Amino acid sequence: MNIPFLDLSRMDESLKKRLKERFSTVLEAGIFSGGKEVETFEKSVSGFLRSAYSIACANGTDALELALRGLEIGPGDEVIVPALTWVSTAEAVVMVGAKPVFWDTDENGLLREDWEKVITPKTKAVIPVHLYGKMVDMKSLMEKAKRHHLFVIEDAAQAFGAFQNGKAAGTWGEVGCLSFYPTKNLGALGEAGMCLTQNSELSTKIRLLLNHGQPLRDQHELIGRNSRIDTLQVAFLNVMLEDFLLNQKMRKRIAEKYLTALSDIPELTLPSGILEEDHNAHLFVIQTEKRNELKDFLTQKGIGTAIHYPTILPEMKAFSQAGEFDNSRILVHRGLSLPMNSYLKKEEVSLIIDTVHSFFGA
Ligand SMILES: Cc1ncc(COP(=O)(O)O)c(C=O)c1O
Repeated sequence: MNIPFLDLSRMDESLKKRLKERFSTVLEAGIFSGGKEVETFEKSVSGFLRSAYSIACANGTDALELALRGLEIGPGDEVIVPALTWVSTAEAVVMVGAKPVFWDTDENGLLREDWEKVITPKTKAVIPVHLYGKMVDMKSLMEKAKRHHLFVIEDAAQAFGAFQNGKAAGTWGEVGCLSFYPTKNLGALGEAGMCLTQNSELSTKIRLLLNHGQPLRDQHELIGRNSRIDTLQVAFLNVMLEDFLLNQKMRKRIAEKYLTALSDIPELTLPSGILEEDHNAHLFVIQTEKRNELKDFLTQKGIGTAIHYPTILPEMKAFSQAGEFDNSRILVHRGLSLPMNSYLKKEEVSLIIDTVHSFFGA
């Protein structure tokens, strides 16, 4: 048995064919930066997520940095960040010269609701991360942020296509940041990202920042950088977007199967709310005290799993910050992501379920 956690080479032949055809179209057109593919993608995302402005850029980490710079957050400022997330969330804060201030998550890995306790006069923004694809309660978070005059930058890198009360992940805060890293629900064949905003001025500024501050060639109004998206990547994303809703259905079906089949194992905590609209089923993270043993057992049986993530950020050398991060620490020791993607066959999902059962002797 060999069931990888995720193997992108399993793409079906018809998708490969469409991607190759799009590659040929771009090659023949001879435009490899900017152009119609970028405009089409931005328009499609704006329509799908109901975002006034969607600005494609080089990757999700840059999207976070562009959001922070767009909001003029820098040296002397503090930004509240969850202790458990991919490193980019806090890294971007450091890259603009500000300080990430970590706060614990709840038992599902989302920024704990009492994050207000860590606000100081230096706090400028909070970055809720929709971890594993599950949205933070945005109505409540936005109200708190407003009360304290803080900016909200949503890290929606894992939550493309999740909606809460009809509003998409990434469209609640001042800026929402998306990643189209190949392993994401909507993934390019390389690096790509996007900033969403509902503010016209901010959108213009972010667009300038990601293109050397140029509104027109050779006119530099701001100090910016090059974070433009590759035309080829955006062209592939236009193809991938065609299949997005179908793939989401397949993910949810697998999640449902796992939930039903694994619910009788008392030693397991299953993800909550994964079938709801505000979860895009990016990752299926189970929790158990026997995480390492289960992971080894599954590996021996040829089943790939992953740990998101093995260390909390404040404990990493690059950040080293003291604090109470109990829930995040628990997830680091107990969390295990099972394979969940549209390339999985029905029989493989059944085999994964059976193998987990046999580990627990159920
Ligand atoms: C939560 C989170 N934030 C930010 C990023 C950064 O995105 P990228 O890898 O496109 O730079 C990712 C993706 O890897 C992520 O999962």
